[in-house]
Amino acid sequence: MKLRSIEMVMPKAAEAADFMLNIWKIAPAGVKNNTHYLRGSGSFPYLVAFEEGEKSYVRSVTFVCEQHELDALKQRVAASGLATKSVESMDLGGGKGIIVELKEGELLRFLVGSEEVAPIEDKDLPTKLTHVVFNAADAEASGHLVEDVLGFTVSDRTKGMVFVRCNDSHHSTAFARAGFSSLNHIAFEMQDVDAVMRGIGRLRDHQFTPAWGPGRHGPGDNVYAYFIAPYGAVVEFSTAVNKVPADYKVGEPDDWTWPANRIDQWGVSDKDFDGLKIAEANFKFYRDWKAETLS
Ligand SMILES: [Fe+2]
Repeated sequence: MKLRSIEMVMPKAAEAADFMLNIWKIAPAGVKNNTHYLRGSGSFPYLVAFEEGEKSYVRSVTFVCEQHELDALKQRVAASGLATKSVESMDLGGGKGIIVELKEGELLRFLVGSEEVAPIEDKDLPTKLTHVVFNAADAEASGHLVEDVLGFTVSDRTKGMVFVRCNDSHHSTAFARAGFSSLNHIAFEMQDVDAVMRGIGRLRDHQFTPAWGPGRHGPGDNVYAYFIAPYGAVVEFSTAVNKVPADYKVGEPDDWTWPANRIDQWGVSDKDFDGLKIAEANFKFYRDWKAETLS
């Protein structure tokens, strides 16, 4: 199972795509049905889709998997009572599978047979998405739900987050203990620390300063720099997240504490708590489909 992409709807989608293409740096993958598809250097057909719409919301977060994983998932989802439906993706790359609405409204899509594309050689492009994080009213319950129904595994619990993996990467998603439900942020995997730092430089050239970072996280050990994009979402340059074994010991909040005045391993970064809090509430999920019994 791999995290592939996020599909978002927003006003002025073309302007948002322009920021990503020319300042953030990502590659164009095509425009179809009022939707701008943006890809990284890896083999996924796109990483983010921006569809023109009146309101800002997340249509889905998409994972790709094998047929046997989808078959097992369908059975657990059908038994769970969660809203779900079979889907054929109309997005770039196609694919078939299911979409599931979690208890707090998060919309996760699982596809098989989605096409892949030839990689691009460019050390400044993100290679893929490394994680998409959700705000949750009840992060603990969300962690249990995705373990039970989606077959995901909680990697670590901190005071602020429940980190969840769906393969050997420490986390592909996480639930923030926010007290409300929304998209928290989208993280792009960069080739190395240099690529993260060059990304920060590109943003600085256009008067964007990091909302948090650069720094190195505790859980996952990844290097990060967060920005608030002009279209309202929080986006992250990230690299070198830990790979973990199947028997990785789940960390608890007391295992992940910082000395006073520190919020990361390096202790060099500031954090715009207020700005991030506002931006992290800008995108909620919106379900525009009716639940159906899975065949
Ligand atoms: Fe992150």
